Amino acid sequence: MKGVAGKRVFVSAAAGGIGHAIALRFLQAGAYVRICDVDEAALAQVQDPSGRLAGLCADVADPKQVEALFHKIESDLGGLDVLVNNAGISGPTANTEDIPPEDWQRTIDVNLNGAFYCARFAIPLLKKSGGGSIVNIASTAGLHGYPLRAPYTASKWALIGLTKTMAMELGPFRIRVNAVCPGSVEGSRIEAVFAAKARARGVSPDEIRNAFRQKSSLRTLVSAEDVAETVIFLSSDSGARISGQTIAVDGHTETMRM
Ligand SMILES: NC(=O)c1ccc[n+]([C@@H]2O[C@H](COP(=O)([O-])OP(=O)(O)OC[C@H]3O[C@@H](n4cnc5c(N)ncnc54)[C@H](O)[C@@H]3O)[C@@H](O)[C@H]2O)c1
Repeated sequence: MKGVAGKRVFVSAAAGGIGHAIALRFLQAGAYVRICDVDEAALAQVQDPSGRLAGLCADVADPKQVEALFHKIESDLGGLDVLVNNAGISGPTANTEDIPPEDWQRTIDVNLNGAFYCARFAIPLLKKSGGGSIVNIASTAGLHGYPLRAPYTASKWALIGLTKTMAMELGPFRIRVNAVCPGSVEGSRIEAVFAAKARARGVSPDEIRNAFRQKSSLRTLVSAEDVAETVIFLSSDSGARISGQTIAVDGHTETMRM
């Protein structure tokens, strides 16, 4: 892998889950990393053996908090080379007609608006750096229909549209923009999704877990580290000619009908 050492990186929602794995992988590769999260207690638990990581408390769905966050990043790091828009919530599990509008709104606010707010404040910094990389963490739900998860699915399709458009706007400034679509990632969040789907369908969580494994050609869930590896590749000089792409890290999802 060529060239993420010394890069200045921001990863949203990285006190846990996939974002945390991405932040650790950047640290391991020699980058300077800033992360944010809404969960102050989880942020306080994040270990930094390198001295190159700092956590800041912010909700990406609040544009004022995001503005303050990027002022802090600029004054701390003197600029930015990589933005990873990782924040995303599962949202409600229900048929579309049963989804409360406030649950729809919150899902769009975090998953789509949050990425827009972060990009809006990161882009001037990336331009000042003379180039850079934005990676938006979408989902295989951004490539398929996904019953019982309408706001999540809509937010991730929209994030891919935002990715393609920003890639066209920012290419002339040597800023690359790509989306990564994780499949079902092992961990507490996907277990909660299995439990919610099981309740909605009246079956056991084991049945749902098995159906999720069977939906990919490789018959597998993926790890947060699998996703992190692809994000690092795209942000490094190895990915210097890759922009506007949507890359699934999912063992090849054949269907989301379950
Ligand atoms: N876990 C999966 O199976 C899976 C699959 C496909 C895509 N994804 C996507 O990957 C990304 C990360 O998912 P995850 O499973 O690691 O998430 P997670 O649910 O484990 O949450 C990770 C972190 O996000 C923080 N967070 C939540 N809302 C926030 C907000 N508004 N502002 C700042 N921080 C916030 C949480 O406090 C938590 O520390 C999301 O965009 C998600 O949609 C996840």
